[in-house]
Amino acid sequence: KNLPGNDMSQACKDVLPSLPPGEDWVAASLKMYQDFWLLPSTLRGTLACQNHFQAHNSDILLASNPKSGTTWLMAILFALLNRAKSSDSDSQACHPLLTQNPHDLVPYLEVPSQQENPNLAAFTSPRLLATHLPYPSLPQSVRDSECKLVYLCRNPKDTFVSLWHFMNKVNPEKGQIPLPECLDNFCRGMSHYGPYWDHVLSYHKASLEMPEKVLFMTYEEMKEDPRAHVRRLAGFVGCPFSEEELRDGTVEGILRMCSFDNLSALEVNKSGKSSTRLENKVYFRRGEVGDWVNHMSAEMGERIDGVMEEKLRGSGLKL
Ligand code: A3P
Repeated sequence: KNLPGNDMSQACKDVLPSLPPGEDWVAASLKMYQDFWLLPSTLRGTLACQNHFQAHNSDILLASNPKSGTTWLMAILFALLNRAKSSDSDSQACHPLLTQNPHDLVPYLEVPSQQENPNLAAFTSPRLLATHLPYPSLPQSVRDSECKLVYLCRNPKDTFVSLWHFMNKVNPEKGQIPLPECLDNFCRGMSHYGPYWDHVLSYHKASLEMPEKVLFMTYEEMKEDPRAHVRRLAGFVGCPFSEEELRDGTVEGILRMCSFDNLSALEVNKSGKSSTRLENKVYFRRGEVGDWVNHMSAEMGERIDGVMEEKLRGSGLKL
């Protein structure tokens, strides 16, 4: 359902006074809401979707911590669900992913500019949506429905370094943000939608309890064996590859189209802007595993490892 603006501001006005004062985080002020850190602008969209979003059983939601490779998986899921458009070379030449940034094809549940614009009711089924909300803060209808959630997790050191670069790019007026300060914040849980570990743990637990509803994937496994994991993903979202597709190179075609090199070289992603009002190029940097070593000392890396070991203890999850 599309939401009237007043409705959202009223919900926001009602909740804001009950929240503790915001805290400064690198280049922004964050508010703690339902035990996670939010930009005030995201709070409005979060309340709107929590109060109004009606999930369909056929919906597919991609969930992630920011900078975990969301853009990549958005593209892959979009291509998987729109296979007719990617199967032959003629239709591949005009595939939506070649002229639009994935963030413009897959709306976020909680980003107001995206919530208000696309008429979700007009989306064909299955609807593909994204969210950075942690599992317990998802709209109740998402948790109650049979919709599918794909969670993408990324190594915390690479996620952190990617986040630091991103914050520098989107806040050029601040000059280069000191990395140690950013690291201090990350290690005490302060990052947009953080704490990072609570986010990951919330979906990991849900995936263990409801494996048919929540698929827990990692950026690193996708990088290591993309073919196997795209097949797994396709099966999970209910559109497995046929024998013919496996033979005719459909999987490889999707991976090629969604690859870092291909997407980042497209004109739309070099010079366009998405509906998030950010330049599309900010979503593409290096797209590699282990790049943190080029930006952090071994001690800094050990610090993140230590925090993760403590926070993930007993969960069975190692990052
Ligand atoms: P790096 O900063 O390490 O390069 P998100 O999409 O969640 O914002 O995450 C951004 C990260 O995903 C960035 O990581 C970006 O380069 C990487 N990325 C974007 N597109 C990708 C792709 N097609 N394949 C692999 N990684 C990609």
